[in-house]
Amino acid sequence: MENNFDVIVIGGGPGGYVCAIRAAQLGLKTACVESRGALGGTCLNIGCIPSKSLLNLSENFHKAKKDFNNQGIEISDIKLNIEKMMSNKNKSIQTLTKGVEFLFKKNKVTYLKGKGVLFSSNDVVVYNDNKKENFKAKNIVIATGSDVATIPGITIDEKNIVSSTGALSLDKVPKKLVVIGGGYIGLEMGSVWSRLGSEVTVIEYLDHITPGMDKEISKEFQKILNKQGIKFRLNSKVDSVNKQSNSLIVEFTDNKTSKTEKAEADKVLVAVGRKPYTEGLNLSKIGIKKDKKGRIEVNEKLQTSVKNIYAIGDVIKGPMLAHKAEDEGIAVAEVIAGQAGHVNYDVIPGVIYTSPEVATVGKTEEQLKLEKISYKVGKFPFLANSRAKVNNETDGFVKILADDKTDKVLGVHIIGSHCGNMIAEMALAMEFGASAEDIARTCHAHPTHTEAIKEAALAVDKRPIHF
Ligand code: NAI
Repeated sequence: MENNFDVIVIGGGPGGYVCAIRAAQLGLKTACVESRGALGGTCLNIGCIPSKSLLNLSENFHKAKKDFNNQGIEISDIKLNIEKMMSNKNKSIQTLTKGVEFLFKKNKVTYLKGKGVLFSSNDVVVYNDNKKENFKAKNIVIATGSDVATIPGITIDEKNIVSSTGALSLDKVPKKLVVIGGGYIGLEMGSVWSRLGSEVTVIEYLDHITPGMDKEISKEFQKILNKQGIKFRLNSKVDSVNKQSNSLIVEFTDNKTSKTEKAEADKVLVAVGRKPYTEGLNLSKIGIKKDKKGRIEVNEKLQTSVKNIYAIGDVIKGPMLAHKAEDEGIAVAEVIAGQAGHVNYDVIPGVIYTSPEVATVGKTEEQLKLEKISYKVGKFPFLANSRAKVNNETDGFVKILADDKTDKVLGVHIIGSHCGNMIAEMALAMEFGASAEDIARTCHAHPTHTEAIKEAALAVDKRPIHF
């Protein structure tokens, strides 16, 4: 095998594989090292993709059970076949990971199976079982992603105390599921199991769920999830989880009263965040600096403290999101090829794929206040949107924040069905520096949920038509 490359990417997740494909497109001789045995990283194998499969399937099950009869669709004897549901999910993963392998072949990216370790600023050794092979690269991109974080004293066994990985593969619906952490993972996986029949309680340290999200949206989100049957214990710090005969006892302290309480569960999901994964890479030997949170430090070109070594995705600062990593992968490949690779960190959408979905881009109201930027707010509820009404999808609203003087859109926050797709329009508008008036004057198809965006933009100027 040819052992000299222009670029070696370590890590085959959305950041790494996209970077490798873009580098190859630009004529660079590229290899990508991956130790998992399948391409696609956490996202495709044990993250975004399997969770979206289960979110979709569990929503179908829930609708068939709870809504269809009222809608004139009479079916009886609806049964859950969890084995089939899981195999459906696994098939989707396999097809997609194989798809990435095909893209590598098509773009002539060399796929190196094994664990990549840095030996100098130009040397990568790939270990696979007992075999070891040396490779040379002019440029190296670290895209090794992140790993599950846990709470001191709580050991994840992926059977009873699970991380997102275990929660994606339970073989039975737990009667009682306690979720530690009211963030992205806790709420998506909590929704899946709640729809399939679990009694779900989310224990969250802060006084609100989804930290960092616009508070008004976060509040509404919690209200809706609560209505769906998910229970919340806010302001509560989980201290320990212990096995007691056939169940688990979760002990937590109320932050306000300092009282200790207990919750019983069949399964516990630990969803308290993720940490950068750089184990065994040899970073300190090469002189690559990390910050206090263990993230690799990079400059605006995503170069590490060793100039020909770059880092992207969850191992560096910024939101741990697949699409952020992908964009960084493309930017780095372009920088290496001598182009002006760039990521606009002000316009990175975030989506929680619950039902309804939550989607945001740009600044929250809290950030604008903190930064002393004067702003206008335009809101529009889906209750007044005709398409949402006929579809029985009236929960939620669109909120647009625009600069008080220039009318430039600074942030958009939506809770409502299909908003994970709708947010793309807002990201595009913000990339083009659109004003709320620009959006208000853009013709939106009727009847669609997107009209709520147009109406919210009109509401920025206090002239919505349907509310
Ligand atoms: P997160 O950071 O979103 O939420 C973790 C929550 O746990 C926080 O609200 C925190 O206050 C709470 N917490 C921490 N320690 C606690 C304790 N001892 N007791 C009670 N609560 C405690 O992290 P999460 O949900 O684990 O997700 C990890 C990463 O994965 C996130 O960065 C997220 O962006 C990404 N992700 C993205 C998805 C998407 O784009 N739809 C889906 C799933 C994950």
